[in-house]
Amino acid sequence: MHPRHMIDLDQLTLPQLEEITRMAHAIYKNPGHYRDACHGKIMATLFYEPSTRTQMSFQAAMMRLGGNVIGFDNPAFSSVVKGENLKDTVRVVSNYADLIVLRHPKEGAAKAAMLYSKGPVINAGDGGHLHPTQTLTDLATLSETKGRLNRLTVGLCGDLRYGRTVHSLIKTLSRYGQNRFVLISTPELCVPEYIKDAMNRAGCPFEEVFDLGEAISRLDVLYMTRIQRERFPSNEEYERQKGVYLLTQDKLRLAKNDMRILHPLPRVDEIAPEIDDDPRAVYFEQTEYGMYARMALILFVLDAKNAVAAAAVGDNSPLRCANPNCVTGTEDYLPNLFEKGGRFDVCEYCEHQNDPA
Ligand code: CP
Repeated sequence: MHPRHMIDLDQLTLPQLEEITRMAHAIYKNPGHYRDACHGKIMATLFYEPSTRTQMSFQAAMMRLGGNVIGFDNPAFSSVVKGENLKDTVRVVSNYADLIVLRHPKEGAAKAAMLYSKGPVINAGDGGHLHPTQTLTDLATLSETKGRLNRLTVGLCGDLRYGRTVHSLIKTLSRYGQNRFVLISTPELCVPEYIKDAMNRAGCPFEEVFDLGEAISRLDVLYMTRIQRERFPSNEEYERQKGVYLLTQDKLRLAKNDMRILHPLPRVDEIAPEIDDDPRAVYFEQTEYGMYARMALILFVLDAKNAVAAAAVGDNSPLRCANPNCVTGTEDYLPNLFEKGGRFDVCEYCEHQNDPA
């Protein structure tokens, strides 16, 4: 089945993921061939949070496909500032655009938007939850620069708790054969339980370590991330975590010659600038591959001829999600949607494991 929306890459089969990655490569090799592919189509970018790469690469992607772009990059300059909720904004904008690309600070916001949009919704980052189109970028980058998406030892370093790019990437790479993860973080910033569950379900080995210098020699891929200052409950907690990890020439000397260094960017202080010229550093190429990956995704989503209609709203459970960052906390009209996951009720918006007892 061809999913109508792109909220989480779990919605795609591996052949569909490969179709998008292959399409991204074909566009990269011959972009002119696709320049009218979206002629007459309009994409809306609704960015409730700051962005450079995701927003501009989506806009450039649609323009390079011959389509048009509307939207806002700061809700303070939209009717959100007058109190309009997400549901009403999405209902209105989906009258104007064929496709909505949404970034929002709340976990599960894209899933919530999907319930009220006439057309497809693409998740461009929902709080500290997921960032599936960054993962498409990362897959395209690994395909181009490493030549494979399986049999990789992938180190992820930094803020693994709030880093949504990390969550989407682990969930997706877990599905490819013989990948293993080295999760490099402080105990406070380790990956959430639902990500560990995803690795366990996939039978994907992982270890949690603190020391980047100790782990680096084993890695085929090092995925560095910044500490996500904006997600911390207090500045004191951020101050205790910032600056813990710094990739330097000294550490890189211990790494394999064919290791690849990725970073979703923006960088703060976790990669020394002199690393940028190392041939193993591919984080600026990654931003270009991201545009081709998003061109491929736009084509995939808009071509969803056999699209499945928006998920029907199921039972409205009396339970409310306990995650303080879940979109249901601020958008109080949203139905309570839960799936059974062992002894927990898992929120369908943000994947938080709620104890129904
Ligand atoms: N990687 C990424 O999401 O960057 P932006 O926040 O600049 O979009």
